[in-house]
Amino acid sequence: MHNIDELINKIKDTQTLLGLEQVRMELLGKSGLITNQFKELASLSGQEKITKGQKINEIKTNAESLLSARKKELQEIDLKESLAKETIDISLPHSKIKKGSISPVSKAIEEMLHILSRYNFTFSEGPNIEDDWYNFTALNIDENHPSRAMHDTFYLNNALLRTHTSPVQIRHMENNKPPFRFIAPGRVYRADYDATHSPMFHQIEGVVIDKNINFAHLKGFLMEILKNFFEDSEIEVIFRPSFFPFTTPSAEVDIVTKEFSKPLEVLGCGMIHPNVLKNVNIDPNEYQGFAFGLGVERFAMLKYGISDLRKFFEGDTRWMQHYNFSAFDLPNFVGGLCK
Ligand code: DAH
Repeated sequence: MHNIDELINKIKDTQTLLGLEQVRMELLGKSGLITNQFKELASLSGQEKITKGQKINEIKTNAESLLSARKKELQEIDLKESLAKETIDISLPHSKIKKGSISPVSKAIEEMLHILSRYNFTFSEGPNIEDDWYNFTALNIDENHPSRAMHDTFYLNNALLRTHTSPVQIRHMENNKPPFRFIAPGRVYRADYDATHSPMFHQIEGVVIDKNINFAHLKGFLMEILKNFFEDSEIEVIFRPSFFPFTTPSAEVDIVTKEFSKPLEVLGCGMIHPNVLKNVNIDPNEYQGFAFGLGVERFAMLKYGISDLRKFFEGDTRWMQHYNFSAFDLPNFVGGLCK
Protein backbone atom coordinates (compact mmCIF):
# COMPACT_ATOMS: atom_id res chain seq x y z
CA MET A 1 0.00 0.00 0.00
CA HIS A 2 2.83 2.30 0.77
CA ASN A 3 3.87 2.75 -2.83
CA ILE A 4 0.27 3.17 -3.84
CA ASP A 5 -0.17 6.07 -1.39
CA GLU A 6 3.01 7.69 -2.65
CA LEU A 7 1.86 7.45 -6.23
CA ILE A 8 -1.60 8.80 -5.39
CA ASN A 9 -0.01 11.77 -3.61
CA LYS A 10 2.12 12.43 -6.68
CA ILE A 11 -0.95 12.94 -8.90
CA LYS A 12 -1.66 16.54 -7.90
CA ASP A 13 1.99 17.58 -8.43
CA THR A 14 2.35 15.98 -11.85
CA GLN A 15 3.09 18.73 -14.37
CA THR A 16 2.50 17.14 -17.75
CA LEU A 17 -0.19 15.00 -19.35
CA LEU A 18 2.48 12.49 -20.32
CA GLY A 19 3.74 12.28 -16.71
CA LEU A 20 0.17 11.81 -15.52
CA GLU A 21 -0.35 8.94 -17.94
CA GLN A 22 2.77 7.27 -16.57
CA VAL A 23 1.40 7.50 -13.03
CA ARG A 24 -1.92 6.09 -14.22
CA MET A 25 -0.16 3.14 -15.85
CA GLU A 26 1.86 2.49 -12.69
CA LEU A 27 -1.36 2.34 -10.68
CA LEU A 28 -4.02 1.00 -12.99
CA GLY A 29 -2.20 -0.34 -16.04
CA LYS A 30 -2.01 -4.06 -16.87
CA SER A 31 0.64 -4.68 -14.23
CA GLY A 32 -0.10 -1.55 -12.16
CA LEU A 33 0.05 -1.67 -8.39
CA ILE A 34 -3.72 -1.48 -7.87
CA THR A 35 -4.33 -3.99 -10.67
CA ASN A 36 -1.92 -6.38 -8.97
CA GLN A 37 -3.80 -6.02 -5.69
CA PHE A 38 -6.97 -7.15 -7.46
CA LYS A 39 -5.10 -10.14 -8.84
CA GLU A 40 -3.94 -11.08 -5.31
CA LEU A 41 -7.58 -11.23 -4.16
CA ALA A 42 -7.90 -14.51 -6.01
CA SER A 43 -5.82 -16.33 -3.43
CA LEU A 44 -7.95 -15.03 -0.52
CA SER A 45 -11.30 -16.27 0.63
CA GLY A 46 -14.30 -15.47 2.82
CA GLN A 47 -14.57 -12.27 4.81
CA GLU A 48 -10.96 -11.31 4.12
CA LYS A 49 -11.61 -11.33 0.43
CA ILE A 50 -14.66 -9.09 0.86
CA THR A 51 -12.99 -6.56 3.18
CA LYS A 52 -9.83 -6.30 1.10
CA GLY A 53 -11.81 -6.16 -2.09
CA GLN A 54 -13.86 -3.22 -0.83
CA LYS A 55 -10.72 -1.43 0.32
CA ILE A 56 -8.96 -1.80 -3.02
CA ASN A 57 -12.09 -0.67 -4.81
CA GLU A 58 -12.16 2.51 -2.71
CA ILE A 59 -8.49 3.17 -3.46
CA LYS A 60 -9.14 2.56 -7.13
CA THR A 61 -12.13 4.93 -7.27
CA ASN A 62 -10.20 7.61 -5.40
CA ALA A 63 -7.17 7.24 -7.71
CA GLU A 64 -9.39 7.44 -10.78
CA SER A 65 -11.15 10.60 -9.69
CA LEU A 66 -7.86 12.28 -8.72
CA LEU A 67 -6.37 11.31 -12.08
CA SER A 68 -9.29 12.65 -14.07
CA ALA A 69 -9.41 15.92 -12.07
CA ARG A 70 -5.68 16.52 -12.64
CA LYS A 71 -6.03 15.60 -16.31
CA LYS A 72 -8.68 18.28 -16.72
CA GLU A 73 -6.47 20.87 -15.01
CA LEU A 74 -3.47 20.01 -17.19
CA GLN A 75 -5.58 20.14 -20.36
CA GLU A 76 -6.79 23.63 -19.44
CA ILE A 77 -3.24 24.80 -18.80
CA ASP A 78 -2.19 23.38 -22.18
CA LEU A 79 -5.04 25.14 -23.96
CA LYS A 80 -4.22 28.49 -22.35
CA GLU A 81 -0.59 28.15 -23.33
CA SER A 82 -1.34 27.33 -26.95
CA LEU A 83 -3.86 30.19 -27.20
CA ALA A 84 -1.24 32.57 -25.85
CA LYS A 85 1.30 31.29 -28.39
CA GLU A 86 -1.11 31.62 -31.32
CA THR A 87 -1.98 35.29 -30.84
CA ILE A 88 -0.96 37.53 -33.76
CA ASP A 89 1.71 40.06 -33.00
CA ILE A 90 0.45 43.09 -34.90
CA SER A 91 3.71 44.89 -34.32
CA LEU A 92 5.60 42.45 -36.60
CA PRO A 93 6.72 43.86 -39.98
CA HIS A 94 4.11 43.16 -42.68
CA SER A 95 6.50 42.05 -45.41
CA LYS A 96 6.07 38.36 -44.62
CA ILE A 97 2.33 38.45 -45.19
CA LYS A 98 1.38 37.36 -48.70
CA LYS A 99 -0.68 39.98 -50.49
CA GLY A 100 -2.69 40.00 -53.68
CA SER A 101 -2.20 42.48 -56.49
CA ILE A 102 -4.40 43.84 -59.22
CA SER A 103 -3.81 43.36 -62.94
CA PRO A 104 -2.13 46.17 -64.90
CA VAL A 105 -5.28 46.18 -67.07
CA SER A 106 -7.47 47.04 -64.06
CA LYS A 107 -4.92 49.60 -62.98
CA ALA A 108 -4.92 51.28 -66.42
CA ILE A 109 -8.76 51.29 -66.54
CA GLU A 110 -8.95 52.86 -63.07
CA GLU A 111 -6.40 55.51 -64.02
CA MET A 112 -8.12 56.32 -67.29
CA LEU A 113 -11.59 56.52 -65.71
CA HIS A 114 -10.14 58.75 -63.01
CA ILE A 115 -8.80 61.16 -65.63
CA LEU A 116 -12.01 61.05 -67.70
CA SER A 117 -14.12 61.67 -64.62
CA ARG A 118 -12.72 65.21 -64.50
CA TYR A 119 -14.64 65.97 -67.70
CA ASN A 120 -18.10 65.16 -66.38
CA PHE A 121 -18.69 62.07 -68.47
CA THR A 122 -21.56 59.79 -67.61
CA PHE A 123 -21.07 56.06 -67.74
CA SER A 124 -22.75 53.70 -70.15
CA GLU A 125 -22.53 50.01 -70.93
CA GLY A 126 -23.79 47.45 -73.40
CA PRO A 127 -23.84 43.67 -73.86
CA ASN A 128 -20.78 41.66 -74.94
CA ILE A 129 -22.99 39.59 -77.24
CA GLU A 130 -24.26 42.00 -79.86
CA ASP A 131 -26.12 41.79 -83.13
CA ASP A 132 -25.18 42.92 -86.56
CA TRP A 133 -27.16 46.15 -86.35
CA TYR A 134 -25.43 47.56 -83.28
CA ASN A 135 -21.93 46.29 -84.01
CA PHE A 136 -21.91 47.22 -87.71
CA THR A 137 -24.95 48.51 -89.58
CA ALA A 138 -26.02 51.31 -87.25
CA LEU A 139 -22.39 52.44 -87.21
CA ASN A 140 -22.57 53.00 -90.97
CA ILE A 141 -20.72 49.75 -91.74
CA ASP A 142 -23.01 48.23 -94.37
CA GLU A 143 -23.12 44.59 -95.32
CA ASN A 144 -20.57 44.70 -98.10
CA HIS A 145 -18.21 47.05 -96.40
CA PRO A 146 -14.61 45.72 -96.38
CA SER A 147 -14.09 46.78 -92.76
CA ARG A 148 -16.46 44.00 -91.67
CA ALA A 149 -13.91 41.48 -92.81
CA MET A 150 -11.13 43.50 -91.15
CA HIS A 151 -12.74 43.08 -87.76
CA ASP A 152 -12.07 39.30 -87.47
CA THR A 153 -15.43 38.79 -85.87
CA PHE A 154 -16.38 35.79 -83.72
CA TYR A 155 -19.85 34.86 -84.99
CA LEU A 156 -22.51 33.05 -82.95
CA ASN A 157 -25.97 31.88 -84.11
CA ASN A 158 -27.68 35.10 -85.23
CA ALA A 159 -25.34 37.12 -83.04
CA LEU A 160 -21.68 38.01 -82.57
CA LEU A 161 -19.16 38.98 -79.91
CA ARG A 162 -18.78 42.73 -80.15
CA THR A 163 -15.55 43.66 -81.92
CA HIS A 164 -15.41 47.12 -80.36
CA THR A 165 -17.20 49.24 -77.74
CA SER A 166 -18.67 51.51 -80.45
CA PRO A 167 -22.09 49.72 -80.42
CA VAL A 168 -22.60 51.26 -76.97
CA GLN A 169 -22.67 54.64 -78.76
CA ILE A 170 -25.80 53.54 -80.58
CA ARG A 171 -27.46 52.01 -77.52
CA HIS A 172 -26.83 55.12 -75.44
CA MET A 173 -27.98 57.58 -78.11
CA GLU A 174 -31.13 55.58 -78.88
CA ASN A 175 -32.24 55.85 -75.28
CA ASN A 176 -31.17 59.38 -74.37
CA LYS A 177 -31.46 62.93 -75.66
CA PRO A 178 -28.49 65.08 -76.78
CA PRO A 179 -26.23 66.79 -75.72
CA PHE A 180 -24.11 63.74 -74.81
CA ARG A 181 -20.93 63.25 -72.89
CA PHE A 182 -20.47 59.60 -71.99
CA ILE A 183 -17.86 56.88 -71.77
CA ALA A 184 -18.27 53.11 -72.07
CA PRO A 185 -15.48 50.82 -70.90
CA GLY A 186 -15.68 47.10 -71.61
CA ARG A 187 -14.39 43.89 -73.15
CA VAL A 188 -14.20 43.35 -76.89
CA TYR A 189 -13.36 40.27 -78.96
CA ARG A 190 -11.47 39.60 -82.20
CA ALA A 191 -10.00 36.46 -83.75
CA ASP A 192 -6.44 37.69 -83.59
CA TYR A 193 -3.38 36.64 -81.59
CA ASP A 194 0.16 37.98 -81.48
CA ALA A 195 2.39 40.20 -79.33
CA THR A 196 0.12 43.22 -79.78
CA HIS A 197 -3.28 41.49 -80.35
CA SER A 198 -5.32 39.19 -78.12
CA PRO A 199 -8.72 37.54 -78.79
CA MET A 200 -10.22 39.50 -75.88
CA PHE A 201 -9.09 42.95 -74.89
CA HIS A 202 -10.49 46.09 -73.30
CA GLN A 203 -11.59 49.35 -74.83
CA ILE A 204 -12.91 52.60 -73.47
CA GLU A 205 -15.33 54.35 -75.81
CA GLY A 206 -16.06 58.03 -75.43
CA VAL A 207 -18.61 60.33 -77.06
CA VAL A 208 -19.09 64.10 -76.89
CA ILE A 209 -22.02 65.57 -78.84
CA ASP A 210 -23.31 69.11 -78.67
CA LYS A 211 -24.22 71.96 -81.01
CA ASN A 212 -20.74 73.40 -81.58
CA ILE A 213 -18.23 70.60 -81.31
CA ASN A 214 -15.36 70.51 -83.81
CA PHE A 215 -12.15 68.61 -84.50
CA ALA A 216 -10.08 71.06 -82.42
CA HIS A 217 -12.07 70.04 -79.34
CA LEU A 218 -11.32 66.40 -80.09
CA LYS A 219 -7.61 66.97 -80.51
CA GLY A 220 -7.27 69.27 -77.50
CA PHE A 221 -9.18 66.87 -75.30
CA LEU A 222 -7.19 63.80 -76.38
CA MET A 223 -3.86 65.58 -75.88
CA GLU A 224 -4.94 66.43 -72.35
CA ILE A 225 -5.92 62.90 -71.37
CA LEU A 226 -2.76 61.42 -72.97
CA LYS A 227 -0.48 63.83 -71.10
CA ASN A 228 -2.33 63.08 -67.90
CA PHE A 229 -2.31 59.32 -68.31
CA PHE A 230 1.38 59.10 -69.17
CA GLU A 231 2.20 61.85 -66.64
CA ASP A 232 4.37 63.47 -69.29
CA SER A 233 3.55 66.88 -70.76
CA GLU A 234 6.10 66.28 -73.56
CA ILE A 235 4.67 62.91 -74.66
CA GLU A 236 5.20 62.31 -78.39
CA VAL A 237 1.80 61.85 -80.03
CA ILE A 238 1.17 61.21 -83.74
CA PHE A 239 -2.31 62.03 -85.12
CA ARG A 240 -2.47 59.96 -88.29
CA PRO A 241 -5.32 60.43 -90.81
CA SER A 242 -7.30 57.20 -90.98
CA PHE A 243 -10.66 55.77 -91.94
CA PHE A 244 -13.60 54.55 -89.87
CA PRO A 245 -17.10 54.30 -91.43
CA PHE A 246 -18.63 55.86 -88.29
CA THR A 247 -16.45 59.00 -88.27
CA THR A 248 -15.44 61.64 -90.80
CA PRO A 249 -12.76 62.86 -90.70
CA SER A 250 -11.07 60.05 -88.80
CA ALA A 251 -7.69 59.69 -87.16
CA GLU A 252 -5.62 57.12 -85.36
CA VAL A 253 -3.27 58.09 -82.58
CA ASP A 254 0.17 56.53 -82.12
CA ILE A 255 2.43 57.05 -79.13
CA VAL A 256 6.18 57.06 -79.40
CA THR A 257 8.23 55.87 -76.43
CA LYS A 258 11.84 54.82 -75.99
CA GLU A 259 10.91 51.28 -74.89
CA PHE A 260 9.10 50.41 -78.13
CA SER A 261 11.02 50.36 -81.40
CA LYS A 262 8.08 51.69 -83.40
CA PRO A 263 5.11 53.96 -82.62
CA LEU A 264 2.24 52.00 -81.03
CA GLU A 265 -1.34 52.70 -82.09
CA VAL A 266 -3.47 53.33 -79.00
CA LEU A 267 -6.78 54.76 -80.18
CA GLY A 268 -9.10 55.61 -83.03
CA CYS A 269 -11.18 58.75 -83.15
CA GLY A 270 -13.03 61.20 -85.36
CA MET A 271 -16.04 63.42 -85.89
CA ILE A 272 -19.18 61.30 -85.76
CA HIS A 273 -20.52 60.49 -89.23
CA PRO A 274 -23.91 62.15 -90.06
CA ASN A 275 -25.32 58.72 -91.00
CA VAL A 276 -24.69 57.43 -87.47
CA LEU A 277 -26.61 60.37 -86.02
CA LYS A 278 -29.46 59.81 -88.48
CA ASN A 279 -29.61 56.13 -87.44
CA VAL A 280 -30.50 57.22 -83.91
CA ASN A 281 -32.84 60.01 -85.04
CA ILE A 282 -30.56 62.92 -84.28
CA ASP A 283 -30.44 65.77 -86.78
CA PRO A 284 -26.80 66.10 -87.95
CA ASN A 285 -27.46 69.73 -88.92
CA GLU A 286 -28.25 70.54 -85.32
CA TYR A 287 -25.84 68.31 -83.40
CA GLN A 288 -22.28 67.18 -84.09
CA GLY A 289 -19.62 65.62 -81.99
CA PHE A 290 -16.59 63.46 -81.68
CA ALA A 291 -15.97 59.91 -80.55
CA PHE A 292 -12.95 57.86 -79.63
CA GLY A 293 -12.21 54.27 -78.78
CA LEU A 294 -9.00 53.51 -76.92
CA GLY A 295 -7.24 50.19 -76.33
CA VAL A 296 -6.64 49.75 -72.62
CA GLU A 297 -3.95 47.04 -72.90
CA ARG A 298 -1.94 49.20 -75.28
CA PHE A 299 -2.01 52.07 -72.79
CA ALA A 300 -0.88 49.73 -70.03
CA MET A 301 1.93 48.30 -72.19
CA LEU A 302 3.31 51.75 -72.86
CA LYS A 303 2.96 53.09 -69.34
CA TYR A 304 4.31 50.08 -67.49
CA GLY A 305 6.82 48.85 -70.10
CA ILE A 306 5.11 45.56 -71.02
CA SER A 307 6.30 44.38 -74.42
CA ASP A 308 4.03 41.39 -75.00
CA LEU A 309 0.26 41.75 -74.74
CA ARG A 310 -0.24 38.00 -74.24
CA LYS A 311 1.38 38.22 -70.78
CA PHE A 312 -1.75 39.97 -69.51
CA PHE A 313 -3.79 36.82 -69.90
CA GLU A 314 -1.38 34.04 -68.92
CA GLY A 315 -2.26 34.21 -65.23
CA ASP A 316 1.40 33.88 -64.20
CA THR A 317 1.55 34.92 -60.54
CA ARG A 318 5.28 35.79 -60.78
CA TRP A 319 4.42 38.28 -63.52
CA MET A 320 1.63 39.73 -61.38
CA GLN A 321 3.97 39.97 -58.40
CA HIS A 322 6.46 41.83 -60.57
CA TYR A 323 3.96 44.57 -61.43
CA ASN A 324 2.36 44.19 -58.03
CA PHE A 325 -0.20 46.99 -58.11
CA SER A 326 -1.80 47.17 -54.71
CA ALA A 327 -5.58 47.10 -54.56
CA PHE A 328 -5.27 49.89 -51.99
CA ASP A 329 -3.27 52.09 -54.31
CA LEU A 330 -5.89 53.09 -56.85
CA PRO A 331 -6.08 56.68 -58.07
CA ASN A 332 -8.06 59.18 -56.08
CA PHE A 333 -8.66 62.90 -56.09
CA VAL A 334 -6.45 63.54 -53.08
CA GLY A 335 -3.50 61.32 -53.93
CA GLY A 336 -3.60 61.69 -57.72
CA LEU A 337 -2.70 58.89 -60.14
CA CYS A 338 0.35 57.47 -58.44
CA LYS A 339 1.79 57.04 -54.97
N1 DAH B 1 -14.16 51.17 -82.84
C1 DAH B 1 -12.85 51.42 -83.37
C2 DAH B 1 -12.03 50.17 -83.30
O1 DAH B 1 -12.26 49.36 -82.46
C3 DAH B 1 -12.17 52.50 -82.62
C4 DAH B 1 -12.84 53.81 -82.80
C5 DAH B 1 -12.50 54.64 -83.83
C6 DAH B 1 -13.82 54.20 -81.93
C7 DAH B 1 -13.08 55.86 -84.02
C8 DAH B 1 -14.46 55.43 -82.11
C9 DAH B 1 -14.07 56.24 -83.17
O2 DAH B 1 -15.41 55.86 -81.30
O3 DAH B 1 -14.66 57.44 -83.32
O4 DAH B 1 -11.12 50.00 -84.08
